[in-house]
Amino acid sequence: MKRIRVVDLLKTPDFIGTDVVVKGWVRTRRGNKHVQFVQLSDGSTIKNIQIVFDMAKFSDEELKPVTTGSAICVEGRLVESQGKGQTCEVQADTLTVYGTADPEAYPLQKKGHTLEFLREIAHLRPRTNTFGAVLRVRSTLAFAIHKFFNERGFQYLHTPLITASDCEGAGAMFQVTTLDLNNLPKTDDGKVDYTQDFFGKTTALTVSGQLEGELGATALGQIYTFGPTFRAENSNTPRHLSEFWMIEPEMAFYDITDNMDLAEEFVKYCINYALDHSMDDIKFLADMYDKDLIDRLRFVVDNDFVRLSYGEGVKILEVSGKKFEFPVHWGTDLQSEHERYLVEEHFKKPVILTDYPKEIKAFYMKQNEDGKTVRAMDVLFPHIGEIIGGSEREENYDKLLARIEELNIPMKDMWWYLDTRRFGTVPHSGFGLGFERLVLFVTGMTNIRDVIPFPRTPGKAEF
Ligand code: 4AD
Ligand code: MG
Repeated sequence: MKRIRVVDLLKTPDFIGTDVVVKGWVRTRRGNKHVQFVQLSDGSTIKNIQIVFDMAKFSDEELKPVTTGSAICVEGRLVESQGKGQTCEVQADTLTVYGTADPEAYPLQKKGHTLEFLREIAHLRPRTNTFGAVLRVRSTLAFAIHKFFNERGFQYLHTPLITASDCEGAGAMFQVTTLDLNNLPKTDDGKVDYTQDFFGKTTALTVSGQLEGELGATALGQIYTFGPTFRAENSNTPRHLSEFWMIEPEMAFYDITDNMDLAEEFVKYCINYALDHSMDDIKFLADMYDKDLIDRLRFVVDNDFVRLSYGEGVKILEVSGKKFEFPVHWGTDLQSEHERYLVEEHFKKPVILTDYPKEIKAFYMKQNEDGKTVRAMDVLFPHIGEIIGGSEREENYDKLLARIEELNIPMKDMWWYLDTRRFGTVPHSGFGLGFERLVLFVTGMTNIRDVIPFPRTPGKAEF
């Protein structure tokens, strides 16, 4: 007989009254000498299926290895359930134990572990209800992203993970080398001789696929990337990872307003898709961690984002009367506390801030007429702060080159990028959505380490 997944079993009334095979991991077992109840999860849904063992048919010995965490297969009849909390249950006829889980040793034997503890056993935490729910929502969101762009004629472009250029210019890159670190080849002036390295030059893991994305957009019209990016900044915050996933659409012929429109439509689409397709998981997370979660998600989907300039935003912060840890005035980079004040306290809505001072933004952003600001846009979300960063790009060759020189970015690394401005340059724009920040928002989790299966943060890369 063919195995039926729990998610299908629970939503298909036709299975009631038939013989079924279910396979999964035991969540709990309880009962008495006449009857034993097992809650079985196969990961396909937040819901368990209840298995009922009539102890007239099974011996205590047979049920003994059926403990929390063990993996079993049960054949039996699916019937409507008498008990509350479930619609149907399986009355077991046969039991096969695939793998036991010694109750003395299994770390998830008991319920109610803290998220901090579960981070220490990240290899097992997907077996918990919380991480099952988060990982399913994450998967749903990833699918929504591809669907959104596919429906709008965007091409999915695969940009390299190993690169020789620093897109964001922040210098927080993980070097990639095959040189023997204990025996480095040196040049005459005592520096490391990277011509002997694998690629014949210094290379690193990418911080962003944008520069290559621009090459794609100025050929295919509109592209998006969706892949891992790496940042070696030593920031231990609940919103930073050393390895995170980013979605970066890049569109020829889009100005900053088109870019903002797309960004707003895009995040709303993803949130809506999750509400439509992952409601069981979102409800579970809302009940467990954050009663306002669903209202907050609906609110973001149903309301226009506020759009204003960085300058206007800074004025609001300056007259707010609020004591910030980091003082704020025109020219300072906004901290999460400033972003969240604007979003959560002042506007009570997502905000798109534009036209930032050029000094605090990357070299590729389009320079405004005022000579001071660039056509940047950051989308700021409640509970998260910055969820998207993007801009219209500087498409003028001379202005871009001047900025590259001003910032002392080595030109030899950038010639291929500048070629987009030498040959058939066009106005174009794009942005980057931090995938884990979106998953944070949709799941209501508060620490970014809890929305990626295997988080990488400073000092942590065990599993
Ligand atoms: O603002 P960022 O640095 O922008 C870029 O990388 C541009 N190249 C994007 C583009 O225009 N194509 O990063 C974009 C987003 C941020 O808004 C944030 O959501 C997320 O990526 N992000 C991080 N997420 C987790 N951990 C980190 N260390 C992150 N750094 C940025
Ligand atoms: Mg940014």
